[in-house]
Amino acid sequence: MSVTMDTLVSLSKRRGFIFQSSEIYGGTGSCWDYGPLGVELKNNIKRLWWRDFVQSRADMVGIDASILMHPTVWKASGHLDHFTDPMVDCRECKLRFRADQVDERPWTHYCPATKGNKFTIPAGEPCSHCGGRRTLCPDCGKGELTAPRQFNLMFKTFMGPVEEDASITYLRPETAQAMFVNFDNVLQSMRLKLPFGIAQAGRAFRNEITPGNFIFRTREFEQMEIEYFVNPHETVDGRPADEYWHDRWIEDCLAWFRRYGLRKENLQLREHRKDELSHYSKRTVDIDYRFPIGWSELMGIANRTDFDLKQHAQFSGKSLTYFDEERKEHVVPYVIEPSAGVDRALLAFLADGYVEEEVRGEKRVVLRLHVELAPLKVAVLPLLKKREEIVRTAQAIRAELARQWRVVYDDTAAIGRLYRRQDEVGTPYCVTVDVQTVGDSGKGESGDGKVTIRDRDSMEQIRVPIPDLAAVVGELLSGGEWTTAAARYPTAKTS
Ligand code: GAP
Repeated sequence: MSVTMDTLVSLSKRRGFIFQSSEIYGGTGSCWDYGPLGVELKNNIKRLWWRDFVQSRADMVGIDASILMHPTVWKASGHLDHFTDPMVDCRECKLRFRADQVDERPWTHYCPATKGNKFTIPAGEPCSHCGGRRTLCPDCGKGELTAPRQFNLMFKTFMGPVEEDASITYLRPETAQAMFVNFDNVLQSMRLKLPFGIAQAGRAFRNEITPGNFIFRTREFEQMEIEYFVNPHETVDGRPADEYWHDRWIEDCLAWFRRYGLRKENLQLREHRKDELSHYSKRTVDIDYRFPIGWSELMGIANRTDFDLKQHAQFSGKSLTYFDEERKEHVVPYVIEPSAGVDRALLAFLADGYVEEEVRGEKRVVLRLHVELAPLKVAVLPLLKKREEIVRTAQAIRAELARQWRVVYDDTAAIGRLYRRQDEVGTPYCVTVDVQTVGDSGKGESGDGKVTIRDRDSMEQIRVPIPDLAAVVGELLSGGEWTTAAARYPTAKTS
């Protein structure tokens, strides 16, 4: 069974992943706030992306550029002229629609064949009574639509105290342009050789006409982008370098999402048709994911050729070339751009991890997140919160583990309930302190000094001596198999 968007929205709110922005004021259109667990998950996604694509590679460096850039950047990049959607307005109810999406929604129809009765007709279909097709506003069913007008998606603002045309600037609609305008700064300061890439993760803003579907399409979102510069005169494995690297990046990005848990059957590549390519692209391939709303773009990998560097060189008057020592010539590198949305990645990981199953006659919701993505790594749970020694031991264990990982302590329910709570947010391991651990000093009984570790996915439990705990947790959180660790310790009764 695949999860619905409503289930994810409700889980996200209930368990502190994602809240509607400014909710107490009625919410802000298509803006979302990440809560205590959401921010951990989001940070983990960005950290892993940075570790795998920047930190661990000799051919990659990173930057963190400002969101407000020189306005000419957007003239040179083509965003001022091309970053538009064709819009139509209803003359009656004044609602605005994307011209190319008007027929993708159900439409309201006052049918002349049934004395003007009102019907809601499925998207793209004719009326089953009169056979008519939609010509008027799909929402009110009465107003005529205007001819399409181009609407720029960039958010406009003013730099400085005077709101005049000369001070107009824009919130960046993509992080990519900062890598192009800093190309020479990075090249010279880091003494790089082609091929190399510049990466950045950060906010982008688009005044989307039809935002929606939770965090899938919003007006403020985060991107993780790489601009990978290659020498267009070189060949790799007998192929032009840009084409070779384009395919390599498609494979690497797909493998990355698979590595952190997205199922193979939920991922597919989609080649852009010639007529849908962006103005700068020679070829673009999307990685699509089977979201609860259906197959949709998770990220895109484009071959942007030398378009951007040439444009910025022309508009700035600065040379943005690379000196090819071998051929003794200046070249304008080609660019391969893997561009991923952080929020869409998070939505895909949530959707893919969500499982409902039956355990001993009861429903269990479990978020099977990869251990490195899980917002909380360990929950420390005292079996009896009224036994001081149990609580003290559990608190000490939490403090010790929290030196390295995100760990929580919870004593607000019975143990079965506490386990379910952690399953639902994807916490891979729970550590329980019980009477056996601490003994009973009143009766002169000493404890065995062992705690129970419970594995989220198998629900198996093992008894581990407290001095071994940090090492076992470390092993499990850094890719160690549960079965390997479990083989070394006695199992405990499951609850
Ligand atoms: N620099 C290229 C670029 O920005 P894009 O396909 O427009 O390309 C790249 O955006 C990625 O950014 C998308 O695949 C998606 O994951 C994310 N993205 C784009 N618009 C978004 C929006 N309105 N809300 C959330 N994510 C968005």
